[in-house]
Amino acid sequence: MAEALIVYASLTGNNETIATYVEERLKAAGIDVTSQEMSQAVADDLQDVDLCVVASYTYSGVTDGELPDEALDFYEDLQTLDLSDQVFGVCGSGDTTYAQFATAVDMFEQVFKATGATQGSPSVKIDLAPTADDFAQLDQFTDKLVEAVNA
Ligand SMILES: Cc1cc2nc3c(=O)[nH]c(=O)nc-3n(C[C@H](O)[C@H](O)[C@H](O)COP(=O)(O)O)c2cc1C
Repeated sequence: MAEALIVYASLTGNNETIATYVEERLKAAGIDVTSQEMSQAVADDLQDVDLCVVASYTYSGVTDGELPDEALDFYEDLQTLDLSDQVFGVCGSGDTTYAQFATAVDMFEQVFKATGATQGSPSVKIDLAPTADDFAQLDQFTDKLVEAVNA
């Protein structure tokens, strides 16, 4: 059975909702899924699974469009990994009122690409809490990830 690790960062619950939804969809497709909150996650564990999924909000520090503080260690460790045997997918909720909308999604996509991992689906960006349209997008996202893992 294929294994997936979902790592999420969520302050007010939107990305946790997204991660839970993706988890349920992957499980329904027969994948063995573990979900972890990002500050508890160990990036090395991604090497032990077939599919890596990140769901992260975007925060602002000095400028808009930054990673959440609790994502920094995980993100740094991710840069050191060889994930050339893994498929990855990135999604995340941000807020379109910020000029740098959901850019944490782009940052994770870039770092996964640098690890040599295969992008199983285009990334999905969601404005605040997911709507029915967003869940439909997440359906396509998970379908593509499952297809890529089973290929
Ligand atoms: C202080 C602060 C700064 C934020 N900066 C950004 C930003 O630069 N870009 C963005 O897209 N969203 C930004 N957001 C919005 C969050 O990413 C958005 O509300 C997201 O849905 C939160 O996800 P969560 O419910 O999983 O915590 C910011 C939110 C806060 C509270």
